[in-house]
Amino acid sequence: MRGFVREPAMLERLVYRSRSTHKLGSLHLFNLLVQCREKNRRLDITGHLLYTEEVFVQCIEGPPEGIESLWQSLQRDERHHQIELLSRGPVKERRFPEWSMAFSSYSHFNKYKMPGFFPVDHAGMNLAVERCAEV
Ligand SMILES: Cc1cc2nc3c(=O)[nH]c(=O)nc-3n(C[C@H](O)[C@H](O)[C@H](O)COP(=O)(O)O)c2cc1C
Repeated sequence: MRGFVREPAMLERLVYRSRSTHKLGSLHLFNLLVQCREKNRRLDITGHLLYTEEVFVQCIEGPPEGIESLWQSLQRDERHHQIELLSRGPVKERRFPEWSMAFSSYSHFNKYKMPGFFPVDHAGMNLAVERCAEV
C-alpha cells in the first residue's frame, strides 16, 4: 500500500510492453516486485505491472524526473528485451494511486501471497489490466 502522499505539481504516465528474457517463476516475480516497490516509493512512482505469457505490460506514473530515471533503468535491465513504448505523456491524476506497483498475473504466480496481486482470468484480463489499458 502507498498511504496518503501529497501529489507533485506535475505527473507523467508511461506505458510500455516488453518480453521477459527468461521464463520467470513465483520467487523471481516476488523479488522483482519487492525491488520495484522499494525504489518506486523513493521516486514517488505508482503503477501496474502485468505478466502473462512471458510478456510484460507496465504502467508507471509519477513526477517526470522519476519517470525518466526509471525509464532509463528499465531500458538497461537484462531481465527483459524488445521494449516497446506504447504511450507517454502528462496526466492530471494517477490510475493506481494506492499501489507503488500493483501486479497482475495468473493466480499460480502468487505462491508467496504478495499484497497488491490481482489474478487475471483465462484471457489474461482483470479490472486493473483494463484500467491500465484505457486510452
Ligand atoms: C519488467 C520489469 C519491471 C520493472 N519495474 C520496476 C519498477 O516499477 N520500479 C523499479 O524501481 N524497478 C523496476 N524494475 C527494475 C529496474 O529495471 C532496475 O533494475 C531497478 O530500478 C534498479 O535500477 P538501477 O540499478 O539503475 O537503480 C523492473 C524490471 C523489470 C524487468
